[in-house]
Parts: sequence; C-alpha cells; structure tokens
Amino acid sequence: MSESGQVGQAPVPPPRDPEAAFATKTPPGLLPRPTLPEDDPPGADRLGLTPEEIEQFRESGFLVKRGMIAPQLFDPFIALWWQQPPAQAAELKPDDPSTWVAPGKHWPVENRWGLARNWMGRGDWPSPEQDRPGATPGERVGRLPYKLTKDISNDVWRWHGIGHDPAFVNATSAHPNVLYMAEALLGGPVKRPRRNRGIYSIFPRDPDGPESKLGPHMDQSMTELIVITYVKDVEPGGGGYTFYPTSPQRLYPTSEQAYNWVATDASKPAMDQIKADVQPLEFAGKAGDVLFCHGWMVHSAGIHESGCVRMAAVQDFNRVRRRSHMRWTAAGKNGGPRINCTMDGTFTIPDDTDDDPTDGNREVTNQWIMDSNEFVQERRAPFADIFHEWNLGQRPVEGNVVFEPPWWEKYRLPLLPTGPVPRGGGGMPAVPLSNIAQHEGDGVWRVTSRANDWMEG
Ligand SMILES: [Fe+2]
Repeated sequence: MSESGQVGQAPVPPPRDPEAAFATKTPPGLLPRPTLPEDDPPGADRLGLTPEEIEQFRESGFLVKRGMIAPQLFDPFIALWWQQPPAQAAELKPDDPSTWVAPGKHWPVENRWGLARNWMGRGDWPSPEQDRPGATPGERVGRLPYKLTKDISNDVWRWHGIGHDPAFVNATSAHPNVLYMAEALLGGPVKRPRRNRGIYSIFPRDPDGPESKLGPHMDQSMTELIVITYVKDVEPGGGGYTFYPTSPQRLYPTSEQAYNWVATDASKPAMDQIKADVQPLEFAGKAGDVLFCHGWMVHSAGIHESGCVRMAAVQDFNRVRRRSHMRWTAAGKNGGPRINCTMDGTFTIPDDTDDDPTDGNREVTNQWIMDSNEFVQERRAPFADIFHEWNLGQRPVEGNVVFEPPWWEKYRLPLLPTGPVPRGGGGMPAVPLSNIAQHEGDGVWRVTSRANDWMEG
C-alpha cells in the first residue's frame, strides 16, 4: 500500500492497547430510565426515518426500532446457546429459572472451550502458568470464544464465538431491515458486517451479593454505528444496554481525529460532565427490537435486578473506507513490556530490556471480536458537524452495501472454527510477529497492510 495519500495528515498518535476502553474514575450520577415504546418518536414500528426520528438521532445520537426482526429467527441460536459449555457446565435449564442465578461458580477460571490447536500456528492456547516461546508466561491470550466474567455484581458470558457464525450474522447484523436502517442513518456504501461481537448474556445476580451498578465507558474503536439487537425480551431493570444520549455529540469535538478516536485533554472533562448531567437510558424491548447509536456513545452494561437472562447481540457498523492497519498488540517477552501497533503499522520494541528487539517469534493478537478493528487511513480532524457525512434520511436507501472481505481473509488469519472445533467456538490465536511485519532496524517492525488490496484488485 502506498503511504503517499497521507502527506499532510495529522501526526500518528501514540499506540494504545486495543482492549482498553475510555473511562474516567468519577462515579455516574444518575440511575437509568427505560426506553418505553410510548416515548419513541413516531415511526419506531416501521422501516425508514421520520422527521422526529432524524431530529432525535441528530440531537441525542440514538434510535429504537421495534419489531425489526421476527424473533423466531433467533430460535436456532437460543437452542444452540443452551447446548454450549457455559450452560452445560452450570446445568442451566430453560424451564427452571432457579438454575440461571449466578452460574459463574460453576465456570472454570481459565477455559479452553471451543479452541483449535492453532496457537502460533500449532499448539494449544496457553494457560497462565505455561512456558511459551512467544511471550512471557501469563501474558493474556486475548478474547476467548466464551468470555466468562464476574462483573460488579452479575455473571456475564460474552459468546464471541457465535459472532462469526454466518447464519447468526445473517439473522442479526446482515438482516435486510438492519442493513436498510444502517444505510438510512450512516449512508452508503455500508460495509456489510462479516462478524459481530456475538451474544452477551447477563445472568441474575446472587441475591446475597452486591447490587448491580453502572460502569459507563466508550469503546474507542472505529465503530461508526453501534447496533444492539435483543434476542430475548428485556424488561426495565433486566440488564438492558444502558447509554448516555448526547454523549457522542459531546465527545466527538474533543477527539484529535474524526474517524479514529484519539482522546485529548478535553476528553476526560467531557466524559465527567456526561456522567454528571446526562440522564442515562436503559434499552428495554422485545426480542427483535433494535437500538441504533452513534459509535462513540457512552454506554454500560445495564443494572440487572431481574430473574431473567439478558441476551443481546452487540454489533458494529462502518461505511466502506480506505483503512490503514489492524489494531495489533504484541505480547511482552523476557521481561520486556507489551507493545501496541500504531495507526501507521509500526511496533517499536525498546532495547533497554533483556527482550531482543529483533526477535520476531513474538505473539501478536488483535481484538478479534470486532468487525471494525482496522484504523481509518484518513487522519483528519473532526468535522464541525458530527453528522457531516451521515445520511440521516437525506438520500433514499438503495441497497448500497458492499460485501468486502473480512479482515481475517485479508490477512489470512485463522479465526473460524475448523477441524474438531464445534459451531459456536473458534477465535483468533496469536500469530508470530514475523508473519505480519518486517524488522526495519532499531526495534522497529513495520506491518504490511492488506487493508485496501481488495479495492485495488
Ligand atoms: Fe463497551
């Protein structure tokens, strides 16, 4: 790829960890209110955008559409959900809600469910104690197909492994009604999602444990449009996706760049103000209801005090754009630190540790749960209007959706379940740094971008 298009571009910001969210320490001020159908602007029950919906999206950065997807389309995935290891290990029963409460005690601390023997091209994904040639023992392996956590109060299972299942993508992100709304809002050409983050399930909490709390943050990814689809009904107080209307409008002008979030000194005060003043909303809705938000919406897992399992498909949308590089991260080795890749595709490994900067047998990973984890090549400053390039109903929807190759095909990375790995598993293992980059000298490794090869064909 030629870098010549970048002459006159803003400087390359320091690299950051692709797994890090943008947050501040100030606790959130207000409790959420639910998004009730009676508060929807006219048009929530049909495709397209009414003037009231356009105005709400412009002012507040979100829109709820009811009944966008027939809930029966989710039945096969819910049936599959009950068969998956986190449900089996905790003996969850569809007809016995008492089994759904705080199942995390039955889950292993480290799980190897749904993984191929493909770490660094050959071996098992390592455990924290294991010696490994490409990284210091205990270095993280990145996301797992079944990410299991105990959050502030509720057990959470993020089933990322279903996010690359083509049938699941068809039923959620690539559902014609969702693509229609993506084009109506964002404008074309819309990049047809090839994966999403999968189903995020939040379980009823242990009644003797702490109460559920909000943890507002912004994902600082390249996502332009966040889409949340409920695969089961979510009542108010049932752990609905919670978000801060107007937060994108407040954060956007504080970013150094328009397309890649780069926080400045103004960003944290803006975040603190959002948490102090903004009335958060909890997306409450039925299976098949869809929430659309600007990609830089401040959000949180919802307060969950109900007895139901909250299941939502979490999705990222983008327009087709020229891209620069993936958000790679290289594990530390021999006492050296973890090194993240910059927007222009360089890793700089320091020479002041026992870690050899010329050593390319080093684990690199990326945030594989995302469809949109390639930086935008253009590093321009934010526009005066956050929606400068958006459609917001100005142009008719014409099906301007492009089936571009996914990043794992561009870089020939092993993500999808293969061999004995069942449906619902799979995930990207580490690959050696020397597979994706060349050492230029002085510890600088340069990645070869494959981002736009498909356009140049
Ligand atoms: Fe998030």
